[in-house]
Amino acid sequence: MKVKSAVLQVMGASRPYKESKPLVIQELELDDPGRGEVLVEIKAAGLCHSDLSVINGSRPRPLPMALGHEAAGVVVKTGSGVTNYKTGDHVICIFVPTCGHCLPCQEGRPALCEEGAKSNSEGTLLNGERRLHAGHEYIYHHVGVCAFSDYVVVSEHSLVKVDPDIPFEKVALFGCAVLTGVGAVVNTANVRMGSSVAVVGLGGVGLSALLGAVASGARDIIAVDINPEKLHFAKELGATHIFNSKDKDCIERIKEITSGGVEYAFETAGAVPAMKVAYKITRRGGTTVTTGLPHPEHEFSFPQVTLTAEERVLKGSYLGSCVPSRDIPRFIELYKQGRLPVDRLLSGMIPLEEINEGFDKLAAGEINRMMVIP
Ligand SMILES: NC(=O)c1ccc[n+]([C@@H]2O[C@H](COP(=O)([O-])OP(=O)(O)OC[C@H]3O[C@@H](n4cnc5c(N)ncnc54)[C@H](O)[C@@H]3O)[C@@H](O)[C@H]2O)c1
Ligand SMILES: [Zn+2]
Ligand SMILES: [Zn+2]
Repeated sequence: MKVKSAVLQVMGASRPYKESKPLVIQELELDDPGRGEVLVEIKAAGLCHSDLSVINGSRPRPLPMALGHEAAGVVVKTGSGVTNYKTGDHVICIFVPTCGHCLPCQEGRPALCEEGAKSNSEGTLLNGERRLHAGHEYIYHHVGVCAFSDYVVVSEHSLVKVDPDIPFEKVALFGCAVLTGVGAVVNTANVRMGSSVAVVGLGGVGLSALLGAVASGARDIIAVDINPEKLHFAKELGATHIFNSKDKDCIERIKEITSGGVEYAFETAGAVPAMKVAYKITRRGGTTVTTGLPHPEHEFSFPQVTLTAEERVLKGSYLGSCVPSRDIPRFIELYKQGRLPVDRLLSGMIPLEEINEGFDKLAAGEINRMMVIP
């Protein structure tokens, strides 16, 4: 069938993207779903920094690639062998497809699925196939999803079924921002009630982490960013203290009000300077978690002795260390009870044709989560 997709043709284009137009809206041919695959009509797809990182070259990927991964839609058709989904099901996409039989999958850590990591870095579906093409030229799939399209074919293992009562633009948030941010707090760090938390970087992921910390009963919730507007919004969402990391004494002041640092600090900016702040404001015996995905050549260093003599913990968090089919329904239920008001992260909706302008806004730190309605 004919579909419309936002395809990245060049990496590292100059900003503003409104002018350089790195994403080109193309009419493509989408093959029918093969064995274990599902055709989904995309109803909403969020702009995430991980898409921006492919656009700006921080996360190099094969081109041309159809981008987008935080998405919700409706099942249109299933390929052979698919028994878990039927036409009309509401689904969200997950940015790591899982094989179910590699060691991490067997250990209950699907975020680390080895086959999923391979197909994601090669820009294919889980089975190695590509289903989108422009004439004879095949297009790569971003993390097995490529959701900035009106229709997609994905592996059945890239989906989770969701409640049809929740509007698409809201439920889509659970596929990346919420899964990553809330998951980092409740799964990776396992934040305890009454503890002190800091979140450094207040985009979709960081604000979700902040809401996760509120829902977990954290005592002090310190929000850190370089953008004053993000800080004010964090306060509305439940931050007890806000700090601009551009202020020279930011680290000292956070350590002062927390008597030596927080028990859990989250780096959710995807930048080494933010990681340095997160590490420095973690107290002795505390845990620093990073969800950020900076350029592979950017290195973070710290005095090794602090890790040892202060018995600190340093953890990476991918996909919020979630088991999506277990955690998404839990997070959605908390949202429905009003305890995880993640829909407040929505900054607006745009048509596919305005996607380059949308990424300008994300790059400038002007939005939290903007949804493309293809
Ligand atoms: N680990 C995962 O599974 C996963 C999933 C999704 C996104 N990510 C990554 O998480 C990061 C955040 O994603 P997002 O979509 O929320 O990004 P975003 O662009 O919406 O937000 C980033 C925020 O960080 C702030 N920031 C930048 N530099 C800072 C600094 N030095 N100190 C404090 N704040 C700073 C920005 O002002 C902005 O508010 C990205 O690196 C993204 O690729 C990881
Ligand atoms: Zn994302
Ligand atoms: Zn696996």
